[in-house]
Order: sequence, then C-alpha cells, then structure tokens
Amino acid sequence: MKQTIIITGGAGFIGSHVVREFATKYPDYTIVNLDALTYAGNLENLKDVDHLPNYKFEKIDICDAQAVLEVFKKHQPTGVIHLAAESHVDRSIADPSAFVMTNVIGTVNLLNAAREIWNDASTGSAKGYEGKRFHHVSTDEVFGALGSEGFFTEDTKYDPHSPYSASKAASDHFVRAYHDTYGMPMVLTNCSNNYGPNHFPEKLIPLCIHNIINNKPLPIYGDGKYTRDWLFVIDHAKAIDLVFHQGKNGDCYNVGGFNEWQNIDLVKELCQQLDTKLGREPGTSAQLITFVKDRPGHDLRYAIDANKINKELGWYPSVTFEQGLAKTIDWFMDNQEWLNNVTSGDYQKYYDTQYQE
Ligand code: NAD
Ligand code: TYD
Repeated sequence: MKQTIIITGGAGFIGSHVVREFATKYPDYTIVNLDALTYAGNLENLKDVDHLPNYKFEKIDICDAQAVLEVFKKHQPTGVIHLAAESHVDRSIADPSAFVMTNVIGTVNLLNAAREIWNDASTGSAKGYEGKRFHHVSTDEVFGALGSEGFFTEDTKYDPHSPYSASKAASDHFVRAYHDTYGMPMVLTNCSNNYGPNHFPEKLIPLCIHNIINNKPLPIYGDGKYTRDWLFVIDHAKAIDLVFHQGKNGDCYNVGGFNEWQNIDLVKELCQQLDTKLGREPGTSAQLITFVKDRPGHDLRYAIDANKINKELGWYPSVTFEQGLAKTIDWFMDNQEWLNNVTSGDYQKYYDTQYQE
C-alpha cells in the first residue's frame, strides 16, 4: 500500500535514521520530515537522502497548532511517526517549560491534527481511521529508576523523575487517551538509550568521544555507577519500522539493547578504543576522566525487557555493542567537520555553564 508518512523530528539524531530507513526501504512511500530545526535538528544529517524523490521537508514547530493542522491538510498523511522532542535531561532540569511545550502540547497538537483529518469529529465516525496509524516514540525513562535487579516491562507502572521523563510520560498518556476516547489508531515504543552516528554531543557517548579527541575533561556525574542500557540507533529505526507496520493497534512495545553498562566502565571503554584509533599510549585518554557534581534526581539504573517485541515481531539488535561502538567512533573520527559545526556557537555556552563547577 502506498503511504504518506509524516515523521516529526526527522532532522534530529534518531529521527534522521528513521527517515533514512523509510525513504530508502519504501520508495513508494512519501516521507515528510516535519522539524523546527532547534539546536538539535540538523539537515546535514540527511544529506545522503534529501535528493530522493519521495522525501520532503517542512520546517514546522509542533507547538504551532495551526501550522501543524495546515501541513496535515496539505500532505494528507496515512501515518505519523512522532519523534520531535526536547530530549536532554540536563536541559530539562535547567528549563522544564520548553519540555512541556514541545513534548506535551506539541504531541497534543499532532494528535488533534491527525484526528481532524482522519476522523469526522462532527459525527464521531471512525471510518477515516482505517489504514491509519499514529506511532509515538517514547523512552524507558518514563518508568523511573530500577535498583540493581529487575527490568522494565510493558506493564511497569510509570514513575518519571526528571522534567524530561515527566513530559514524555504525559505525552504517552495523551496518546493512549486519544486511542481510548476517540479511537485513534496508535502504537507506542519505549526505548532505552541510543548511540550512533549523528548523536548530538551533549549526551554521554558523543560528548566523551568529542572531548577525548579534543583532550578535554570527561565529566562523570556522581560516582559513575549509574547504569544504562545502550542500543545502536539503526536497530531502533528497524524496531520502529516493524512496530509501525506490524504492531498491534493500541499496543506498546519496549525496545532495548540487552546491553547494560555502568557509566564509568563505558567511558573507560571509549578511552581505550580511542587511544588505539588516535595512536595514543594506552591509558592516556582515561586521564581526562573527571568526577563532577551529580545530576539532581539522577535515576540509578534503566534496563529493558525487550522480549515482547522479540517474540511477537521477531526483532533483535542486529549489531553487538562492540560492532556498534566501533562504527560510532569511526563515524565521529570521519566526520569531525560535523562535530565542529554542531559544537560552535551556543553549544559552547551551554557546555561552559554545565561544567563550570
Ligand atoms: P534529538 O534531540 O536529537 O532531536 C529532536 C528533533 O526534534 C530535532 O531535530 C529538533 O529540531 C526537533 N524538534 C524539537 N522541538 C521541536 C518542535 N517544537 N517542533 C518540531 N521539531 C522539534 O532527539 P533524539 O535523541 O533523536 O530523540 C528522538 C525521540 O526519541 C524523542 O522523542 C526522544 O524522547 C525519544 N528517545 C530518545 C532516546 C535517546 O537515547 N536519544 C531514547 C529513547 C527515546
Ligand atoms: P545521557 O546521555 O544524558 O542520557 P540519559 O540521561 O537520558 O540516560 O546520560 C547517560 C548517563 O550518563 C546518565 O547516567 C548521566 C550520565 N552522564 C555523565 O555522567 N556525564 C555527562 O556529561 C553526561 C551528559 C551524562
């Protein structure tokens, strides 16, 4: 079936991989990338696919309800894959309001626009919903923090702690509420920490790669024993493809890498691999490790039970962490111009305020 899919946040880290996956795998689909190009959005991320005849770009802020409705009327999408968000926990601690606006209000604006063009709101007819789907991309952070044991399943109670995760949890609730109340066809994915090419260097892995290359301190929050489950971004894009096409209407799927690391061990691994790539003496980059003040409300551990998506849809990560990390480091080494561009201007201001203590 031919489809027109609006992908929001397609100029960002994960969104650009999702756009690439869909635009190249489904030449019959029209892919509309809807993105406001905030500090995290970068059309350079799509330079290898933006010439494709089935790719279109719309510069739209999802907080602008009228603009969102107009773009939906113009393109008449059959599907929406919603990734646009403010995504960095530390920024959410500094300014929660931007997260409420984009992550909560922006999501509701998209749901309203989808409802308006898919459903005859005056008669309550759900006929227009046939063959339509709203895929909401969320995070494992909505489930809160785990102790040293156990995993998040699809039934784990929501317990968000940061303004970021609270705003994502609220958006998840709205998507489910539109399903239960208005019959909106939806699927939802909650994924663990991603890493890979085009990752904005404010998150742990790309920040450390950038700083190791430039001989800058590697800030480790608290004692560094916080644990995250890491997934290569292209495997997340493949999971989204599967759930969007084959997930059960109204269902949620956890996506994870079966790959837990304590932050300090992960950073030491990065140091080791980069020492080799940069021709440095073993142990050189590890000297950059600097323990800094902890993040307030820091969640101890995230770990995903991804058995449902594995059993129902046959998804499993296609690369090991060793392979994924090597590809990521190589990409950053080969794309230092990209790194220099995104770390100029406002980035430096953010970075200096963040780590001045
Ligand atoms: P990102 O910060 O790299 O990119 C976000 C994109 O959204 C950018 O292109 C930005 O320009 C766009 N955007 C932001 N505000 C907008 C607005 N008001 N209107 C239109 N566009 C706007 O984020 P990411 O890391 O690629 O995450 C994408 C999605 O995946 C988010 O919803 C995030 O919550 C979710 N997620 C991320 C991770 C992760 O590890 N990064 C893990 C699980 C889930
Ligand atoms: P991050 O990449 O910001 O992702 P999230 O907070 O969404 O999990 O952080 C990953 C982990 O690394 C988290 O425990 C916080 C920690 N961290 C540091 O220790 N130092 C840093 O400079 C950053 C950005 C994160």
